[in-house]
Amino acid sequence: MIADSPLVLAATRQPVPHTPVWFMRQAGRSLPEYRELREGTAMLEACRTPDLVTEITLQPVRRHKVDAAIFFSDIVVPLAAVGVDLDIVPGTGPVVAQPIRTRTDLDRLPALTPDAIPDITESVQRLVAELGSTPLIGFAGAPFTLASYLVEGGPSKTHEHTKALMHGDPQLWNDLCERLAQISGAFLRVQVEAGASAVQLFDSWVGALSRADYTAYVQKHSATALAAVADLGVPRIHFGVGTGELLALMGEAGAEVVGVDYRLSLTDAVARLGDSYAVQGNLDPALLGAPWDVLEKRVRAIVDEGRAAPGHIFNLGHGVPPNADPDVLTRIVEVVHEHSAR
Ligand code: CP3
Repeated sequence: MIADSPLVLAATRQPVPHTPVWFMRQAGRSLPEYRELREGTAMLEACRTPDLVTEITLQPVRRHKVDAAIFFSDIVVPLAAVGVDLDIVPGTGPVVAQPIRTRTDLDRLPALTPDAIPDITESVQRLVAELGSTPLIGFAGAPFTLASYLVEGGPSKTHEHTKALMHGDPQLWNDLCERLAQISGAFLRVQVEAGASAVQLFDSWVGALSRADYTAYVQKHSATALAAVADLGVPRIHFGVGTGELLALMGEAGAEVVGVDYRLSLTDAVARLGDSYAVQGNLDPALLGAPWDVLEKRVRAIVDEGRAAPGHIFNLGHGVPPNADPDVLTRIVEVVHEHSAR
């Protein structure tokens, strides 16, 4: 039963047989079998092809024996599905042909209805049948992170156009984020209705904001996206990078689990969050390249810290880098399971 899986038990702060572990970006370029399968197919096309989505999602589960699969897709898939002209450029990320910065631009962003993504339903259904007792995590991008790609036109370190819009035209910002919250929420809901056992809302770049700006301009929109699946009873994980100051606010947006990056210890994260949330994290991906004995010590220390949390899902502090050695990931799964066995 999925309800008895270590992932769902940990997410709902119940006792676990061992600490569950999965890796953000576990499917992808770190795996030779992924690179082979993706040969000749563009990223967005791959995300809309159920044969490829199913096989790519399963690859890391077979290889690493992780406790969950993460649906192979991308945060910009639902934006492309509603007609935004964008591409995922290898080595760069999502690039938007015409950035959204005016009211007229916003009119080019319609709502998402399930009939635009029947392939997502099909891929999830096939995966759930194949995965058996291993849970599938569905996901979406949060409104701020999606807005950043749309307003900037591509990846940004400063988010300057995004922040200028947020402060310069709060009404337009609000309307844009309301639309994005609908799109994210609908994307999550389609995945859960098709059988996903948990969801993760990625607000990867929201660590660029102060607590005040997060509260004024972002939190309620993330809450709308998370509320879209509240009645479906699956645990909701909420993650961002560099969000140490925002953790409690991100939990309050409507999550059962708060993702922690590597800048803050799990112990400090729990002190900030209180006992109402499970935590997920937080091995620094850079340590994947460190000598094994150093890495192993760090993994055990994180498992130990996690045992003192109300619930803990082991993960990296951010995604698996493309140059990671996949054998190291497999060994981490073994150590987490062995060291945490109750
Ligand atoms: O295994 C998994 O985690 C599932 C798949 C997944 C992808 N993207 C596949 C992908 C998930 C969960 C995402 C989410 C995503 N996409 C986020 C949030 C997570 C995070 O990293 O913070 C963000 C910010 C994006 C936007 C995006 N898409 C970026 C920054 C990139 C990398 C660009 C590059 O080439 O370095 C992508 C492309 C992408 N998404 C790849 C994968 C496997 C690489 C494309 C390829 O293999 O050709």
